[in-house]
Amino acid sequence: MSRIIIVSNRLPVTAQRTNQGFVFTQSTGGLATGLASIHAMQETIWLGWPGVLTEQPDEKTAITDALLPHRMYPVFMNEEAYAQYYEGFCNSVLWPLFHYFPHPAGCNHSQWQHYQTVNERFADAVCQRLQPGDQVWIQDYQLLLLPRLLRQRFPELTIGFFLHIPFPPPDVFRALTGHRALLEGLLGADLLAFQTTEYTDNFLATVRRILKLDTEAGHVFLPSRVVDVTAIPMGIDYEKFAAYAHSPAIIDQAAQLRRQLYSAQVILSADRLDYTKGILQRLTAFDLLLTDQPSLIGTVTLVLLVSPSRAELTPYRLLKEQIDEAVDRINQLYHRPGWTPVRYRYLTVDLAQMAVLYSLADVALVTPFRDGMNLIAKEYVAARRNGTGVLILSEMAGAAHELTDALIINPYDVRGMANAMAQGLRMPLSEQQLRMSRMQQIISNHDINRWATCFNQQLQQVASQRKTVKKRSLVATGWSLARPRPVGELH
Ligand code: F6P
Repeated sequence: MSRIIIVSNRLPVTAQRTNQGFVFTQSTGGLATGLASIHAMQETIWLGWPGVLTEQPDEKTAITDALLPHRMYPVFMNEEAYAQYYEGFCNSVLWPLFHYFPHPAGCNHSQWQHYQTVNERFADAVCQRLQPGDQVWIQDYQLLLLPRLLRQRFPELTIGFFLHIPFPPPDVFRALTGHRALLEGLLGADLLAFQTTEYTDNFLATVRRILKLDTEAGHVFLPSRVVDVTAIPMGIDYEKFAAYAHSPAIIDQAAQLRRQLYSAQVILSADRLDYTKGILQRLTAFDLLLTDQPSLIGTVTLVLLVSPSRAELTPYRLLKEQIDEAVDRINQLYHRPGWTPVRYRYLTVDLAQMAVLYSLADVALVTPFRDGMNLIAKEYVAARRNGTGVLILSEMAGAAHELTDALIINPYDVRGMANAMAQGLRMPLSEQQLRMSRMQQIISNHDINRWATCFNQQLQQVASQRKTVKKRSLVATGWSLARPRPVGELH
């Protein structure tokens, strides 16, 4: 198999300055966790930002040297790029809009310019490492322009792109500054994959509406080639989480934690700090639950883990303050000697610590307003040792398409969420096991290896068709009867 170059904005490890030099911790988020398993098993190299801002050559060398044995290559950013590209265009413009949130006042020209410049920098970084036969897998919304930048430099390169977050409907997408360029950027790839068919359909509709291109059965027809567009839902490293579930150390720690909570039952909420996740609504629903059913006071604890993320941005900072206030209010209202209703931690934990929480939780709350997939939901299911436990899942999460045996809720309906919590807490064990075993079956079959294999096979197929088509013609290959129309500079 040819070598794969994974390119993502952030590397799966984050460097931190200490007195002893740099230390590296695991990065937060599904992209890093999921692809790290692939990186560990396959012949890949990984290019991305190492999480620190530095312009000092000695620091850059230290980080580069430390990452080299792990087949990772840093792409550095300065403070201005961080502010304008990462905080600006990526996370104040694209992130809310791709999650169907109202578009803020619009982006300023500098944010858009830096987005283009940083994408160029990533293109340079790929070029520096590229060897004959390599294929490139680009990840996520921070690098929407990169496929085309690479296609312009290397017309024959095999390029795949996976979007980890939702893709919005055409009318929402249209509000973006640079919307045409972003679509054209993506169409530089051979294969564009999304988490669900809903997002694939949104993308194809957007391409038809904005670029006036022909599409048919998951293909976009360009003047000289065809781009495949498909849904490949991302999975998790099922075996790793299932193994954690049987580890005596994890089981012991979970039992110890349960004793410390003085609670018969535990509900878990674990996310990155993000306004798309619906964390405040979960707290409101828990409050409603305790008001409605006072018998639960003193017997059910909500374990709330929020991992710091993008905390310098105003909406994230405000959300953090609101979560702090809501937790204080609930804890003051219902607190009993020796028992605290919400046990709240604002920190990043590693996978083993997550496994302890999954093992502890009788009920897991995964209730985003909108989420590409949500791998926390899948990890919880994989990590349930006895097949017990109840997953409460938002219908707006990509995972809800697969995990239909969860208690599916509307994240805006806090009353419905409180009812689902009550239902989960009193669900008979036999029903829990039935639902859980069906979900375990699905996610063990569609794990991260299967995801990578599907992605790779489809990428090979479309890339080899592209090469064949160059020699013959689009129509002669029988790809489609549709008429490709010349559009701008697309090729
Ligand atoms: O999955 C969405 C995503 O934005 C990833 O691209 C990213 O690595 C992760 O969430 C964490 O976000 P950030 O890199 O902004 O901390």
